[in-house]
Amino acid sequence: MRDQMRAKLVAGNWKMHGSRAANQRLLEAVKSAAAEFGGAQCAVCVPFPYLEQAQNALAGSAVALGAQNVSEHDSGAYTGEVSGPMLRDFGCRYAIVGHSERRTLFGERDGQVAAKFQAAQRAGLIPILCVGETLAERDKAETEAVVGRQLRAILDTAGVRALADAVVAYEPVWAIGTGRTATPAQAQSVHEFLRRTVAERDTEIAARVTMLYGGSVKPANAGELFGMADIDGGLIGGASLVAEDFIAICKAAAARR
Ligand code: 13P
Repeated sequence: MRDQMRAKLVAGNWKMHGSRAANQRLLEAVKSAAAEFGGAQCAVCVPFPYLEQAQNALAGSAVALGAQNVSEHDSGAYTGEVSGPMLRDFGCRYAIVGHSERRTLFGERDGQVAAKFQAAQRAGLIPILCVGETLAERDKAETEAVVGRQLRAILDTAGVRALADAVVAYEPVWAIGTGRTATPAQAQSVHEFLRRTVAERDTEIAARVTMLYGGSVKPANAGELFGMADIDGGLIGGASLVAEDFIAICKAAAARR
């Protein structure tokens, strides 16, 4: 479903990487290249302690800031958690929810991911909802069942209208950090399925919702992936830590507008 209304978005997910010195170099490089990203929106999702550093370093640029997680609670006795209002306080525009590493390593289930999605929106953040199947699930031909369940958990609790102000990221678990990318056709097929799943409830919102691909995106494969009809950009892990790679991927998105 090609829709010229959908702008491209490239979001870097630094995961648990960084130091003040390395961040500063990376942020300054991305900021100074941003004028060449055309209409493609670029964002960096940094570890919580570095939000203020990133907010300051990116001030006055079009590069947006995001977090990698958000509490489902707005405030209270939740030791170690970080709320949506706090993220807004540091200028965040986006919050990743339901990343596969959160689901598998930290036990986040669909219900909790849906609560985090809604907490992000309550705070005025744009949730980037991650969905994706493991290799075992793909081998059993369960990809659509798994990503469909993960997406419907949001549709059933937040309602389809919530998707109008959200981003969906398809990240096949077997492609994350493995160097093994989904082929553009494999990724497109799942994106098309996800868009159809939204369209069952609302065709206009389905046509509008931004859908990113994530999993070993590199400068060499970004252009072809972003050229697919239902792929509106990428969620970038490893390559988002290398300034020239991340900048090249943002430029690839700009070229595919
Ligand atoms: P890689 O780009 O390192 O495969 O990571 C993808 C990812 O998990 C982004 O959220």
